[in-house]
Formats: sequence, C-alpha cells, structure tokens
Amino acid sequence: MSELNIAVMPGDGVGPEVTAEAWKVLTAAGERFGFTLNRSDWPHGAAHYLETGKTISDADLDQLGGHDAILFGAVGVEPAGMAKIPQGLLETEILLKMRFGLDQYVNLRPVTLLPGVNTPLAGQSSETINFTVVRENTEGLYCGQGGFLYKGTPHEVANQIEVTTRHGVERVIRYAFETAKREGRDRVTLVAKTNVLRFAHDLWARAFREVASEFSDVTADYQHVDACCMYMVTNPQQYGVIVTTNMFGDILTDLGAAISGGMGVAASGNLDPERRKASMFEPVHGSAPDIAGQGKANPTAAILSAAMMLDHCGQPDAAEAVRKAIAAALADASTRTGDLGGTASTSAAGDAVVTTMGS
Ligand code: NAD
Ligand code: IPM
Ligand code: MN
Repeated sequence: MSELNIAVMPGDGVGPEVTAEAWKVLTAAGERFGFTLNRSDWPHGAAHYLETGKTISDADLDQLGGHDAILFGAVGVEPAGMAKIPQGLLETEILLKMRFGLDQYVNLRPVTLLPGVNTPLAGQSSETINFTVVRENTEGLYCGQGGFLYKGTPHEVANQIEVTTRHGVERVIRYAFETAKREGRDRVTLVAKTNVLRFAHDLWARAFREVASEFSDVTADYQHVDACCMYMVTNPQQYGVIVTTNMFGDILTDLGAAISGGMGVAASGNLDPERRKASMFEPVHGSAPDIAGQGKANPTAAILSAAMMLDHCGQPDAAEAVRKAIAAALADASTRTGDLGGTASTSAAGDAVVTTMGS
C-alpha cells in the first residue's frame, strides 16, 4: 500500500474550517483507493505568531520540503488584527516563504465553471468557462525587494522592485505550453503589459516567442492585461491556457474565481514541476475574516486543491473520483453552501462529497 506524507498547515480564519473538510475527503479517498496518509501538523498562522513570534524558519522549510506535499489553508488577519501583527507579515513570512523557499515556480489555477454552479456572466456555461491560468510564482513584484528613502518625510521615496529573469520566465512559459498539451488545449496566451513595462515584459515576450516555436501545434498569442480583464468577462471561451506574471496572475485569478462561482470554488497548486521539494496545494481564497468561525465557508476550493494534490502525488484515479463527487454534490442545492445559494454548513458540504464518492 502506498503512503503519502502530507504536511497540513490550516492557518487562519476559514483556513482550518475548509482544510478539515479537504482532509476528511482525502482520508475517504485513501480508504477507497488503497493509500495511507501520514499527516504532520503545522500550527503556523496568526495565533501561533502571537504566542511564539514565529513564522516559517529555514529549518521548517527543510522539513516541509521533505514531504510528498503540503496542504495549506490560508493566512491573514482582518485589519483590526493588524495592530498586533505587521501588515503582510503572515502572508510573506509563511505563504510566500514556502512558495519562494521551495522554488514552487508554477502557480496552477484552473478556472472551471462546474455544472450546477452559477456564473454572473449571461450566456456562459461550463462549456465556455474552462481554462487554466499558469501564474509565475517565484519572481516579479512578489520578490520583496525595495525599500524606503526619507521615510515619513514629505520627500519620502518608496521602491518596489519587479524582478524578471530569463530562467524564471522561460521555465514557467514552457510549463504553460506543456500544460496545454497535457490538457488538450490548443492555445496559450501570454498576458502582460509590453506597451508600458518595456524592459521586463519585453523579456517575457521574447522568451514566449522562442518557447512557442518549440510547440508548433499550439497557437501562441498575446494580450495586454487590461484587455484580458475585459475579455475574461465578455469572451472567456477564447482561452485555453493563460501564462502571466506573479502579480497579474494574482489579480486575474480572483476575476477567474468570480466568473466561475466565486472564491469558494477556486483551487490552486504551487508546483515544483521538477519535484525536488514538496509542492503546496491551497484554495485561491484567503482567511475570509467576514465569515470565519460561522460554518459558512465553502470547502469546495480546498477539496479541489486536495484533488490537485492527489494528481501530483500519483493518485489520478482518486483525484478524478473526488472531482466527480464534488460535481455531483454541487448539482444538489441542499448540499451547497450559502455562497452558492444553498443552506449547507461547511462540514455538511464536505460530508456530501464523502458520501457521494462512496467507499
Ligand atoms: P478572501 O479571499 O479571504 O475573501 C474575499 C471574499 O470571498 C470575502 O467576502 C469572503 O467571505 C469570500 N470567501 C472567501 N473564501 C470563501 C469560501 N471558502 N466560501 C465562501 N466565501 C468565501 O480575501 P480578503 O478578504 O481580501 O483577504 C482576507 C485575508 O486573507 C487578508 O489578510 C489576505 O491577505 C489574506 N489572504 C490569504 C490568502 C492565502 O493565504 N492563500 C489568499 C488571499 C488572501
Ligand atoms: C493568493 C493570495 C496571496 C498572493 C497573498 C496572500 C500573498 O492573494 O494566493 O492569491 O498574492 O499570491
Ligand atoms: Mn490572491
């Protein structure tokens, strides 16, 4: 019987609520498909920081990286909590520390409207809203370089540096084309802002053209990010795979979530495609302080992220069974959470997936 060693870091707000449901479904999938899950628990998040002053250390990274995968919930506190925790500290020193430190250079974010889930876009359906965003995950504006000069004075200067490397860009673009082939999609669109960011995004465009020439059966095209926002609303059916920068990918995938049922259903994988260290799977959404602790959060995004984890860990049949069970559970209004027009609690929605999957 195969064994999977999974690090589980539920985090803050709704993170623990939705991660518990993802774990419930994973356990059921393990029983049905004959694999064992060994769980190691990681307490990192707001409460742990306030108690211990700790985020993720280099030693933690070493240990985390040795797992088969990491299942992550969300971190972050509501603005009132910022008084005790510096703005962005948990996000950068826990979440981004893992993405960067474990070189999870692909952030794979499917945008899929599941049957039975409503989109706010008139005339669209699960046939037309179905594409994949490949977000660069270890560079760009997220690198944390920059600083202040004359801070707090009228002459204050703030620099936030966007780092773009040929190596970093080329590898994520190649992954996007490979994703198109793997998923049977015929188009890869580079989304950037070459008309303004004439250095960094020129590098992106040149690397994109060169890598595209290795994939002659896939159409390669380009859109500026502002136009892409418009087309994602007016004509989402045109997309196969979108490859984009770290920051644009962050923004576009919240829009992607909004057109495919909301934050409650958007899944993601932070991947090291070379599998040198653990990849990390998490919902796209955050800690949702506005609904935390009320049993209202939709666990679908976390469960779909767990299914991506199963794919990555060599359990594709289990992953597919989980996805099918989610689709079946969502088709029934009584097992949907409030964000999808239902009345089910977080745990009832998770139970429905387990029941539908069978044993
Ligand atoms: P958010 O994604 O937490 O919430 C945005 C909206 O979506 C809210 O109305 C929320 O109720 C709703 N929502 C989110 N998840 C849901 C779910 N599972 N079911 C139903 N509705 C859901 O974004 P935000 O409010 O901008 O951020 C809150 C905190 O989370 C901030 O501190 C932010 O930095 C952090 N954050 C963390 C992550 C992460 O750890 N991966 C991701 C995004 C934001
Ligand atoms: C996401 C989140 C993170 C990001 C934050 C919390 C650092 O918004 O995963 O989309 O910007 O990548
Ligand atoms: Mn985001």
